[in-house]
Amino acid sequence: MEDPKTDSQGIPEKIETLGTQQAKDILPPSPPPTDGSVSDADDENVEIPLPPPTTIPTQTLDVDLKTPDSHVPRDPRLIRLTGVHPFNVEAPLTALFNEGFLTSPELFYVRNHGAVPQVQDQDIIDWEFTVEGLVEKPITISLKQLMTEYEQVTYPITLVCAGNRRKEQNMVRKSKGFSWGAAGLSTALFTGVIMSEVIKRAKPKRKAKYVCMEGADKLPNGYYGTSVKLNWVMDPNRGFMLAYKMNGETLRPDHGKPLRAVIPGQIGGRSVKWLKKLILTEAPSDNWYHIYDNRVLPTMVSPEESANNPKWWTDDRYAIYDLSPNSAICYPQHEEQLCLTGATSTYCAKGYAYSGGGRRITRVEVTLDKGKTWRLAGITYAEDRYREVERDLFGGKIDMSWRETCFCWCFWSIDLPTSEIAAAKDIFVRAMDESMNVQPRDMYWSVLGMMNNPWFRVTITLEGDYLRFEHPTQPALMPGGWMERVKKAGGNLANGFWGEKLEGEEQVVSSDEQAGEVPMVKEGLKNPITIDELRKHDDEKAPWFVVKGEVYDGTAFLDEHPGGAQSIISAAGLDSTDEFMAIHSETAKAMMPKYHVGSLDDAAKTALTVGETEPDQNASPAETFLNSKAWKKAVLHGKKIVSWDTRIFTYKLEHPTQRLGLPVGQHLMVRLRDPVTREAVIRSYTPISEIDDQGYMEMLVKVYFANASGKGGKMSLAMDALPIGHFIEMKGPIGKFEYVGNGKCLIQGKEKFVRTFIMICGGSGITPIYQVFRAVIRNPEDKTKCIIFDGNRLFEDILCKEELDALATDNGHRCTILHTLTRAPDDWAGLRGRITGELVRSNSSRTDDALALICGPEAMEKTMHKALLQQGWTDDQLMFF
Ligand code: MTE
Repeated sequence: MEDPKTDSQGIPEKIETLGTQQAKDILPPSPPPTDGSVSDADDENVEIPLPPPTTIPTQTLDVDLKTPDSHVPRDPRLIRLTGVHPFNVEAPLTALFNEGFLTSPELFYVRNHGAVPQVQDQDIIDWEFTVEGLVEKPITISLKQLMTEYEQVTYPITLVCAGNRRKEQNMVRKSKGFSWGAAGLSTALFTGVIMSEVIKRAKPKRKAKYVCMEGADKLPNGYYGTSVKLNWVMDPNRGFMLAYKMNGETLRPDHGKPLRAVIPGQIGGRSVKWLKKLILTEAPSDNWYHIYDNRVLPTMVSPEESANNPKWWTDDRYAIYDLSPNSAICYPQHEEQLCLTGATSTYCAKGYAYSGGGRRITRVEVTLDKGKTWRLAGITYAEDRYREVERDLFGGKIDMSWRETCFCWCFWSIDLPTSEIAAAKDIFVRAMDESMNVQPRDMYWSVLGMMNNPWFRVTITLEGDYLRFEHPTQPALMPGGWMERVKKAGGNLANGFWGEKLEGEEQVVSSDEQAGEVPMVKEGLKNPITIDELRKHDDEKAPWFVVKGEVYDGTAFLDEHPGGAQSIISAAGLDSTDEFMAIHSETAKAMMPKYHVGSLDDAAKTALTVGETEPDQNASPAETFLNSKAWKKAVLHGKKIVSWDTRIFTYKLEHPTQRLGLPVGQHLMVRLRDPVTREAVIRSYTPISEIDDQGYMEMLVKVYFANASGKGGKMSLAMDALPIGHFIEMKGPIGKFEYVGNGKCLIQGKEKFVRTFIMICGGSGITPIYQVFRAVIRNPEDKTKCIIFDGNRLFEDILCKEELDALATDNGHRCTILHTLTRAPDDWAGLRGRITGELVRSNSSRTDDALALICGPEAMEKTMHKALLQQGWTDDQLMFF
C-alpha cells in the first residue's frame, strides 16, 4: 500500500511556502510556489497548510491539438470523462488525496461546458467585467482596478462539482450526465476580492434580489451563466469572492483565467469562470445553463418526462445551491490488497468529507456490518489552521478568525482491527454536518444524477491470504468497481441491499431493463451502408458516425451539440458505440432517430469492429489465435530495435502450439486504449512472422515520432511505449484479398488466377507485399512472377531488405526487386525518385493475368491508381491494401 504523503493532520509533510516578495506580487504571471517561508507574520509559529509542489504544464497534449483547446497545456494524469473535448476531468482519487489539503492546479478537477477562452498574459490586467442590471451606478471594472482599488483576501476553498460520484447513479440507471467518480472536488487558496465590495459600489436598487453571472465562453445555448441570491452575496459569512489567483499563481486557463467567481459552500456550477458580467435582477437567471443544469428533480421524473415537460426545469425549488454532506473512502484504495500474513493488527482507513452552506462536518462514522453498528472516526480540519493567523499570503489577507463557516473538505481516519476487516464484507462511511444532515443509506436517483451522497461503500473479498478492496465504480468508461460486478452478475443495484441477492427474491430485473431501451433508429428505414460510404463522411463538413451498427448523420446537429461540434467531428467515420452509450442520456438517445440514415452492412461492421463478443473464458484455447468477432489479448514478449524508428514486436499467443490463423495477404486489427482518455486506437497490420509459426507472432512497425510537421503516429507511438508483459488486443483476419498459392487468389471470396504480381509499395506498405512475395517464392512449384517496386526516402528506410534479397537469391527468373529512393546517398546504384507510372510501365507489362498489389501512403496509392488506369489497367486488376 502506498502511504498518503500527509501527516496525521492531513497536512502535506513537506510544507512549501512562498517568499514575501513573491507572495505580494499580485500582478500576473506569477511563478509557482517553490520554497522559502512566510516571514512577515507575527504569528509565525502557526503553520498553515500551503500548496503542494506544482509543475505548470507547458506543452499541449497530443489529444488536445485538434480541439479548440489546443492553446491549453494540461496534465496527462487527469481522467477525461467526456472523451477528448470539452475538457471534463478528475484526478485519480488516490493522487488527489495524497496531495493533501490543497490540490495543485494541474490536478484540480475541471468542468468545462465548451472551449476555454484564450487570454494572453499581457492582456490579463486589462480584462474587464461589468456590474449592471438593477443598480444605481452600473460600472465596468478592469482586473487592474480590482487588484488595486479593493481589499485583497486569500481563502482556502473547496470546489465540488454537483456531479461528484455520479457514476454510481449511472450504474443504477443512466442519468443525463457523464460519469464522475469520487474525485470531482478540489481545494485551493483563492486570492481576490469579496464580491459584495464590488456590488456595493454599484449601489443595488431595492428590487434587486439575485446576482446573475456570465462567463466569456460562448456555448451552443449562449454564454455560460447562472445566479445566486443577492442577500447571500452580501453576507460576509458566506465569503463569495471574485478570484484571479489560485494557490498563489494566476488562474490557469481551465480554471477561469483571468477572473472567476468563487462561491464557497455551494456546488461548483455557481462559480462562474472567465467572468464578464454581474447582473442584478429581480428573478433568478434565465440563462439556459442555469435552467437546464444543476438541479435535482424529483426521483420519479424520468428523462422523457423531463424532456417533454418544461415545468420541471423552471421550478426553482429543484435548483441546487448548497452542497449536502458527503464523504468517500480513499484508503483502502480501489483494488488495494491487504496480505493477512504478517499484517499489522490494525488498518488505518481514511478519506474525505464535506458539507455545504458553510456547515462543519461534525461526525464521520464507519460500519463493518452494513449499518448495524457504527464507529466514530477522527476528523482533522486543516481549514481551522488559517483561523489562527492574520497575515498576507499571495497578495491577499488571510482573515478568518472571526468567521465560523467551513468552506473546505476535512479528512477522517480510523484504525480498524485487521481481524474485523477480514471478517467483514464491506466498509461504509457516512458523514453528518452541524445541522444534523446525515448522508442517506439509499441513493436518491434523479434525472441529472446530481448530489449523489449515499453511504460510500468499499467491498472486501477474501482471496486466499489476501483481502481485496473494491470501490463502487471507476470514473468515466473505466471498467471496475463492485457496482459493475454486481450488475454483470444480474444483481439489482436498486434493491436496497446494494444488489446483493435477498432470500426469497425471485428474478432480478435491473432498473435499466425496467426502463426499457430507448429506440434510436428511424422506424421502417432500411438502408444498408457500406464501409466506403461511411468513410466518405469521415470529415468535418458532413460527419457520419456509428452507434451499435446504425449510421447517423451529425451534420444538422453540429451547431446544437451541447459539447460543441468537435465532439461529433471527432467521431466521424468511427464506431462510437462505447463512448456514445456511456456518455449520453436517454433524452439524447431519443433524439437519434432524427439523424439515423441507415445500417452498416456486414462487411462494414466487421471492418469497424462493432458487434464484438467476448471470447468464452472457459473454452479451451483454439488452434488458431485470431477471431474475427472478438478482440483477443496478445502479450508483448519482446522488442527488437531494427533502426531508430523501426521495431519488430514479438507477441505471445495463448499457448505454445497455437498458430496465428491469418491467411496470406490478409491483415489483422490491433487495438490499444489511450491510458488517459480510454479512447481506443485501432489500426490494421500485417505480421512478418510466418503463418505457420507457433506460440508467437512478429510485427514490423515503423514508429512515426512527432516532429515539426506533425504530432506523430498515435498507434505506433503507443505500441512503442507499451512495456514488455503488457497486452494489446487483436482481431481478424480482415481484407478482401487472399493468396492461396500457385497463382490462385481469392478476391472478395472469388477465385482468380494470376501469372504476374506487380507489387508496388512505399515505407511500411512492404509488410503485406512481403507476405505474398514470400509465399510465392518459398514454394518452388509456384510459377507466378513477382515484380516489386519499393519506394523509400533514405536507404535506411528500406524495410525487410535483407529478407527480400535472401528470397530473391537463386530466384532471379521468378522475381525482380526494384528499390527507389527519393533521398539516395551518392553511392546508391539503384533507382532514384518516387515510383511513377512510367517506372512501372517500363519495367513490367500489363497482361490480363496480371494483378497489381499496392500498399503505401495515400498520396502514392492515388497517383498509382490514376497512372495505371491510364495505362489500360482496370480496377479489378488493382488491389489496394
Ligand atoms: N463557468 C463557465 N464560464 N463555464 C463553465 O463551463 N462550469 C461550472 C463552473 N463555472 C463552468 C463555469 C461548473 S459546472 C463547475 S463544477 C465549475 O465551474 C468547475 O470549476 P473548475 O473547472 O475550475 O474546477
